[in-house]
Amino acid sequence: MVYWLIQTLADHPALACAEAPEGMLSIGEQVRFQLLKHAKRRRDWLLGRWTAKRLTAQYIETITGRRPALSDIVITTDPDGAPRLHSRNGYAFINQLAISISHSHGYAFCALTDVPGYRPGVDIEYIEQRHPAFVSDFFTDAEIERVHRTPPLAQPLLTTAIWSAKEAVLKSIRRGLTVDTRCIVCLPEEPVADGWSPVTVMCSPELNATVRCVWWRQIGRFVLTLATADSEQTTHVTVPIVEVQRIGDGVSP
Ligand SMILES: CC(C)(COP(=O)(O)OP(=O)(O)OC[C@H]1O[C@@H](n2cnc3c(N)ncnc32)[C@H](O)[C@@H]1OP(=O)(O)O)[C@@H](O)C(=O)NCCC(=O)NCCS
Repeated sequence: MVYWLIQTLADHPALACAEAPEGMLSIGEQVRFQLLKHAKRRRDWLLGRWTAKRLTAQYIETITGRRPALSDIVITTDPDGAPRLHSRNGYAFINQLAISISHSHGYAFCALTDVPGYRPGVDIEYIEQRHPAFVSDFFTDAEIERVHRTPPLAQPLLTTAIWSAKEAVLKSIRRGLTVDTRCIVCLPEEPVADGWSPVTVMCSPELNATVRCVWWRQIGRFVLTLATADSEQTTHVTVPIVEVQRIGDGVSP
């Protein structure tokens, strides 16, 4: 399964003030948080952690029947910037879970998976008009053609979905925006009401990556995308189909 949750700065009064809600951070995380100087970065970081910890707490409660303290769920940052889950005071199995975090305009979106060998990548993007140069610089010919075939009023949604899918894929394969965004072709299928639609994805061979499934959806003024990739080359392993499931107390923007 892949589980996901959205939270907003309005979900706890401390978050909007760029302060950590009481009992949220472990000692190590408090040290890391103190190093963040800019208010926006502090809010984004906190909201991402808040969302990831609440999602993980809900997952643990579902599995064990007990809800852990948020400070017992520890999220560290790998050298490439990707988040990693650890536990304090038991719940060692969460070290096996893989998570991904994204934040935008006061919202955070997080997904975790318990499927061995799978890695999620998520992105949340505010839907807005993009300059034509954005499309021509960062999109592939197939994506540009799709945008040009789309009525102008629908283009902001489509360009946001394509861009967001690229970011989600690049997170799932742990490359981020260190590679040319045209190494990946993302063609979103038609949206469905209140659900996830597939995105057809093709990756250049030089990425040496196996991307499994990519989905997208619109919620309010945001696009959400969710990708899963193999965490190592496991081409001989049969990987189960992953179902996306909303968990906990997500909100609709
Ligand atoms: C990863 C990246 C695409 C994020 O895009 P963004 O639109 O700026 O921000 P988002 O809110 O969608 O995502 C940010 C989150 O992505 C995650 N992330 C960062 N780098 C990542 C990577 N290489 N792989 C997977 N996830 C990553 C982090 O959880 C981060 O939030 P956090 O720092 O608060 O934990 C972008 O930051 C990037 O490409 N960076 C290049 C790699 C880099 O410079 N790494 C920094 C090394 S310290």
